[in-house]
Amino acid sequence: MTVYDISALLYLVSAVLFIFSIRGLSSPETARQGNMLGIIGMAIAAGTTLFLVKDFLDPATLGLIAGGIVIGGGIGALLAQRAPMTAMPQMVGMFNALGGMASMLAGLAAFFAPAAFGLLNAEGLISPRSLVEMSLSVTIGAITFSGSVIAALKLNGSIPGKPILLPLRHILNLLIFLGLIGLTVALAMSDGAQSGGGMLLIWIACLALVAGITLVIPIGGADMPVVISMLNSYSGWAAAALGFTLSNFALIVVGAIVGASGAILSYIMCRAMNRSFISVIAGGFGASDGAAAAHGGGADDRPVKIGSADDAAFILKNSAKVIIVPGYGMAVAQAQHALKEMGDKLKAEGVEVLYAIHPVAGRMPGHMNVLLAEAQVPYDEIFEMDDINSQFKQADVAFVIGANDVTNPGAKDDPTSPIYGMPVLEVWNAGTVMFVKRSLASGYAGVQNELFFNDNTMMLLADAKKMAEDIVKAL
Ligand code: TAP
Repeated sequence: MTVYDISALLYLVSAVLFIFSIRGLSSPETARQGNMLGIIGMAIAAGTTLFLVKDFLDPATLGLIAGGIVIGGGIGALLAQRAPMTAMPQMVGMFNALGGMASMLAGLAAFFAPAAFGLLNAEGLISPRSLVEMSLSVTIGAITFSGSVIAALKLNGSIPGKPILLPLRHILNLLIFLGLIGLTVALAMSDGAQSGGGMLLIWIACLALVAGITLVIPIGGADMPVVISMLNSYSGWAAAALGFTLSNFALIVVGAIVGASGAILSYIMCRAMNRSFISVIAGGFGASDGAAAAHGGGADDRPVKIGSADDAAFILKNSAKVIIVPGYGMAVAQAQHALKEMGDKLKAEGVEVLYAIHPVAGRMPGHMNVLLAEAQVPYDEIFEMDDINSQFKQADVAFVIGANDVTNPGAKDDPTSPIYGMPVLEVWNAGTVMFVKRSLASGYAGVQNELFFNDNTMMLLADAKKMAEDIVKAL
């Protein structure tokens, strides 16, 4: 067995570990294990690459690589430890940006030092195929980089989350796209770095960086999780393109896994919101005043039943079965610990307590699962939408805390509603529906929730954490 056979085998092992890692991440119980498999896979892949090139590395270069690992790894570990759970989406966005930047820089490096990457043919030139692959890697990497930075800044509130609609943006994007194609063709027809091809690739990088900004800036802040997952998918394809350039099996396989899983995740999120991918990319819900205003997203002066923490505690305590529906407001208020305490008190009273999770509750995939896990809610009390929807009929209370759109019946029975067709938690089938929120305001989609005005609905108007704590006291 040659050293190349061994490295191919090790790359295969790491690719298999990545596949098992993603499988592990699909359930909260196995997520830690999945993460660990991913770490081992990445360590094997990086170690194998270093082993393969070790003969070509002088001590100074090795020192640079070690320094990079220590400094980069240190910053990453520190950031991951310090970032609060609510800042996770923007952190993922920033890590994504780094992945894109790595693809862009590696593509540029391969172009400017082709001999080091073994990319020169018999005539000492880079083949047109490799030049196209480099252009792809630089283009996708640069779009991913600048797009992810904008997405992370929007999620962080550092720039306004509202869609920023540039004048003539579609024409601008079309011109950039045509420019990128033209430059790539010119690059493929050049002889590489020797004949000014370098300027072409730098222009490609600059134009793609602008494209990342113009593509993401018109999209509303709340759609950013879909955008980040889409950019994540792009960064995978960028890595795969680079893998072809460098004839690196691990990069091709891992890039394809990231590309495909990011694309599937974007699709799942769009489907769970009943929105087409194109409509997300074209701008956020109610980006103008349209749908939201038409559906009464603003104030409504119809009467509603308003209850207190004492009223809620009395009804909850006298129930046989309570289903808790957490949403975005629970995350904002960080009410998960108080909520768990409330659930525990009810269980001690002999009430059956279950948690129902909608696939797009909150603002990122798995948002509610992560928060409930943090509060140590047992996994066997947490149910996905399809598994629990039929149980609301037997529940005495549906306790909706900081959720809104994911319970909106308009999604089922109002064909004119912007969220029509989105699967929802059928909380209205429970004996009593309690809504913990601060006002009668609409949720993310800007659509009024008719349930607030039902006879069997009790509005508990307060901050989610405060209300959960008050109910615990009253219990
Ligand atoms: P929303 O429909 O956004 O409703 C959240 C509710 O929480 C609001 O109506 C708000 O009402 C209330 N709230 C906010 N802060 C609160 C606090 N401190 N205490 C108590 N209540 C508070 O949330 P949802 O039901 O979780 O639905 C998620 C929405 O986000 C869906 O439309 C989904 O399509 C969208 N989305 C989700 C994702 C993912 S992947 N999860 C990605 C993009 C978009 P008040 O202001 O009256 O308090």
